[in-house]
Amino acid sequence: NFTPDTFVEDIVAELKLKIQDDKVVLGLSGGVDSTVAAVLLNKAIGDNLYCIFVNNGLLRKNEFESVLHQYKDMGLNVKGVDATDRFMAALAGIEDPELKRKAIGRVFIEVFDDEAHLLTDVKWLAQGTIYPDVIESISVKGPSATIKSHHNVGGLPDFMKLQVVEPLRMLFKDEVRRVGATLGIDPELLGRHPFPGPGLSIRILGDITLEKVRILQEVDDIFIKGLKEHGLYNSVWQAGAILLPVNSVGVMGDERTYEKVVALRAVESTDGMTADWVHLPYDFLQKVSNKIINNVKGVNRVVYDISSKPPATIEWE
Ligand code: XMP
Repeated sequence: NFTPDTFVEDIVAELKLKIQDDKVVLGLSGGVDSTVAAVLLNKAIGDNLYCIFVNNGLLRKNEFESVLHQYKDMGLNVKGVDATDRFMAALAGIEDPELKRKAIGRVFIEVFDDEAHLLTDVKWLAQGTIYPDVIESISVKGPSATIKSHHNVGGLPDFMKLQVVEPLRMLFKDEVRRVGATLGIDPELLGRHPFPGPGLSIRILGDITLEKVRILQEVDDIFIKGLKEHGLYNSVWQAGAILLPVNSVGVMGDERTYEKVVALRAVESTDGMTADWVHLPYDFLQKVSNKIINNVKGVNRVVYDISSKPPATIEWE
């Protein structure tokens, strides 16, 4: 029978004993797991925990600034690193989804390694790994898989030679959320939808440009805010918008337009392995669609994805 209070007490004592006066580095992602891991370590070792939060330029609208601010308010010793230009340069001209993931994984490792080198005498690498990550590590897509393929190619980046500490490795997601609540973390942060490591890059079909990222951020922001305002956000497991690589004809006043199409996606799921599309109310979809077309320059058509997984996946790439 899991009790968050006891877990926090025990793990903090264990971390103190294990780490003592050593320095620890941790990458924050804005997600639940890395945040809870950071707050626990902060409780145990204070400012000897050095957090790094990287902006890859592919986060949601205003997310980097607002989450960084939140981290600082929580008393975390965090450095925000805006590496948008490095990621964009690495992604330029790439259309293949797996190559996008590889490029992002590679640049993330480079940026993180550069930052870790600026710290002296770091002994530990902390990670927000949870139990399902441990048992399913073989089938994991994303950053960890990218790190694995990186192993086979060149030598290990230096930060990966550090001793690893994973305070959440025995917990399930709902337990992590309960621990987070006990630690006083903002419920809104704890209730966030999952968001993929490669961010909006795999929701922009085709090549990535800053202008496309900006358009998708605006669309996504209207959709997510709408879900929250209509009390639908918490009944959806994951939601987002996809920018399609086609233009369609529309009409605005007397003029014919030829602009981008976006797809909205909202799914119900327990673990992301299977998923059903959510039957969002028609009047909600209508409001969101109008708002997107009226407010986001460059978009003249909105469609809703009614595919379930399998055979479709949650992401389009
Ligand atoms: P799919 O598209 O495979 O997605 O049905 C299942 C879940 O995994 C997330 N996802 C990723 N997460 N790196 C990640 O960290 C990735 O490359 C990646 N691809 C998909 C997706 O958002 C969904 O929650």
